[in-house]
Amino acid sequence: MNFAVLASGRGSNLKAIIEAVQSGAIKAHLKAVFSDKKDAYALEHARRAQIPTAFINPKDFHDRESFDRAVVERLHEFKIDFVVLAGYMRLVSDYFIEQYPDKILNIHPSLLPEFKGMHAIKKAFDSGVAVTGCTVHIVVREMDSGPIILQEPVQVDPKDSFESLEEKIHQAEHRIYPKAIDLFVRGKLKIEGRKVIVL
Ligand code: GAR
Repeated sequence: MNFAVLASGRGSNLKAIIEAVQSGAIKAHLKAVFSDKKDAYALEHARRAQIPTAFINPKDFHDRESFDRAVVERLHEFKIDFVVLAGYMRLVSDYFIEQYPDKILNIHPSLLPEFKGMHAIKKAFDSGVAVTGCTVHIVVREMDSGPIILQEPVQVDPKDSFESLEEKIHQAEHRIYPKAIDLFVRGKLKIEGRKVIVL
């Protein structure tokens, strides 16, 4: 199977995914990494691993769908079977989802359905919850709402700063995202309505 990663930021999840592909923990081909941000460090991680990259500038398109049509065109060029969003800070259009139904994975830094949207770690930290975490899910039309593949809880200690909590969540993300991709690649996930059954 061929997959692509879309990332907007520092790319630590991408790095964990690249390492899992290199070690054979994910048996699929990471064919391309695309970003909507020219300076995303994720692109640098990809270049170092000699994975083709592209920066696709949202400013070159008049709306979300025409941008996504350009992204999907590139995905087709690379014969991509499924797509992994890793810190991709754009909502994907219905068009994109229709092109890859149940074939787009996303990671979110909270235990969904808690703390959807931007700044999830900050929202959890400020709310005073004792446990937060991270979630890998299938992307559907409604943001941060698709069937959940894996979650890992993270304890919020009274002595945690925002930064230390963020670090713990990132470490958990780097554990569960490669695991979830591996399950997907091996056909171990059965989606039944809102539920994902791990076979
Ligand atoms: C990750 O914490 C990821 O869960 C989050 O962005 C960060 C990207 O880090 N994604 C979202 O908030 C999506 N709603 P990274 O660039 O180091 O992988």
